[in-house]
Amino acid sequence: MCGIVGYVGKRDCVDILIDSLSKLEYRGYDSAGIAVFEEGKIVVEKSKGRLVDLQLKMQDNNSRPNGVCGIGHTRWATHGEPSDVNSHPHGNKRVSIVHNGIIENYKEIKQFLENEGYIFESQTDTETVAKLLDYYYEGDPLTTIIKTISEIRGSYALGIIFSDFPNQIFAVRKDSPLIIGLSNDENYIASDVPAILKYTRNYYLLESNEIAVISSDNVNIYDIHKRPISKEVKVADWDMDAAEKGGFKHFMLKEIYEQPNAIATTILPRIVDDIPDLTEAGINVESLKQYKQIFIVACGTAMHAGVVGKYVIERMARVQVHVDIASEFRYRNPILSKEDLCIVISQSGETADTLAALKLAKQMGAKTLAIVNVKGSSIAREADNVIYTHAGPEISVASTKAYSVQLAVMYLFAFELAFAKGQISKEECKRLTKILMTVPEMIETMLYSTEACKFAASRLINSDSLLYIGRGLDYALSMEGSLKLKEISYIHSETYAAGELKHGTISLVTEGMPVIAVVTQNSLKEKTISNIKEVKARGAKVIMICDENMPEDKEVADFMITIPCIEECLTPILACVPLQLVAYYTSVLKGLDVDKPRNLAKSVTVE
Ligand code: M6R
Repeated sequence: MCGIVGYVGKRDCVDILIDSLSKLEYRGYDSAGIAVFEEGKIVVEKSKGRLVDLQLKMQDNNSRPNGVCGIGHTRWATHGEPSDVNSHPHGNKRVSIVHNGIIENYKEIKQFLENEGYIFESQTDTETVAKLLDYYYEGDPLTTIIKTISEIRGSYALGIIFSDFPNQIFAVRKDSPLIIGLSNDENYIASDVPAILKYTRNYYLLESNEIAVISSDNVNIYDIHKRPISKEVKVADWDMDAAEKGGFKHFMLKEIYEQPNAIATTILPRIVDDIPDLTEAGINVESLKQYKQIFIVACGTAMHAGVVGKYVIERMARVQVHVDIASEFRYRNPILSKEDLCIVISQSGETADTLAALKLAKQMGAKTLAIVNVKGSSIAREADNVIYTHAGPEISVASTKAYSVQLAVMYLFAFELAFAKGQISKEECKRLTKILMTVPEMIETMLYSTEACKFAASRLINSDSLLYIGRGLDYALSMEGSLKLKEISYIHSETYAAGELKHGTISLVTEGMPVIAVVTQNSLKEKTISNIKEVKARGAKVIMICDENMPEDKEVADFMITIPCIEECLTPILACVPLQLVAYYTSVLKGLDVDKPRNLAKSVTVE
């Protein structure tokens, strides 16, 4: 939710700030802005809309500032509509800030400052922080920042400049991510690694309530008592090409095609002698056996990966698994104990709801395991154990490769747990693991021919609403298919357990309504086909996703998309690919912004 950047060095900073912000637009794209020191004065340029709108505005008004030190912001609106005045940076001639997060007590602070004579221009929570900094400022930025953060509640990553210190950036964070990029004669701040990857791979991870004072040749970090802190330099191992489109029209398509490699890189190092081995994450067979119940908590796509995980773990290991939407988990007063395991799943590792759920599970004494893609992220650092997925940076807002690697980890976990609990033999564990190892190649083959998915998309673009149906694992997977489609094509869709339709939803079916039926579970095929016939009898046009052994039958499906045959429990990791592609091509055919769908942001660091 919002991306912040900063640069201080010897080079003109505007291009660098814009370039870095372009790598963070996935965090929000409601507005963009920069504040730059020009001849010792703070010059602010900001605009509603995307980064390109800011660039055009500066070009049209001939107002592009020149300077070697500045901060920048790309916004996902929370407090106040997307508009020029609500855009960051906020502040005045003396202090200017960019902010990612939410200030929960902004109303009280605003009231206090208004009583002190301050006049507010925007509806944002951020403006209160800018004005509070100004209120406390008496010439010493560090003292000012410490006083200010002791007054504010909520989450924040702040980039701050003071006009009295023209070659310095100040940064502080709490519960929102912030890194400090380190290079020769220049340093950076950013919300995430891709923003600095073009310039440096070395960075510090700022911890909550640490304050950084950054100049071109120095970075000093202090705690809230002004005691200096020494930090370990981290080295980003992400490939820079991975953050670029590499010839694909959209990041989403590129990321769909990266799945074979992402899955292979995620599973292969965790397979020893043909069976899963998660000891690297601190998980061993003995510890696995002890858990009475497993809670899987996550949001959106990551939660859907958890639903597949539940079906597979329960089926194979016979352990009870509960799946919760993180924002609900916290407030439903869940019953966990030290005998339970709580697995949180998150691509970004920064999702506020998931992080809060993880903290709650820890407080209740449960053991916690995070399945996370971004190294060193808040969730990864908070959990007792971490299994990193190795998908590389996922830029498109619609999650694809992060989902398939999360599924891959769910399978490794389920197989190892089932074996540990004696529910499957070592031979069976090996057999299943070997099949899992063939998945990357199978997906690669599937990606050679995408015509069927394009055709299916062309059948959807004129619809206002459609249904996804399936049973068992097909139902679990359909949830993700439906989310993907509605997220990027803006076509309303619902997922229903195929057997549940007749209890109400079937009344929605009218002549020509598309229904996407996922039918990959041999044991449930006949039942789902009966449900398909029920909707077809009422005029539905059925697109069926099934394995290649399914005979063509126009009385069942108007159109079929087939996947290779594989062990029943593993079908979701193959069948997710056509579902992603159908969503992708629908969005493309509708001429929409695939990678940046309206109203969304990639990383949701607010509750
Ligand atoms: O970074 P996370 O995996 O924690 O994000 C969770 C959701 O916000 C995310 O999966 C979201 O649902 C995707 N944009 C859907 O494609």
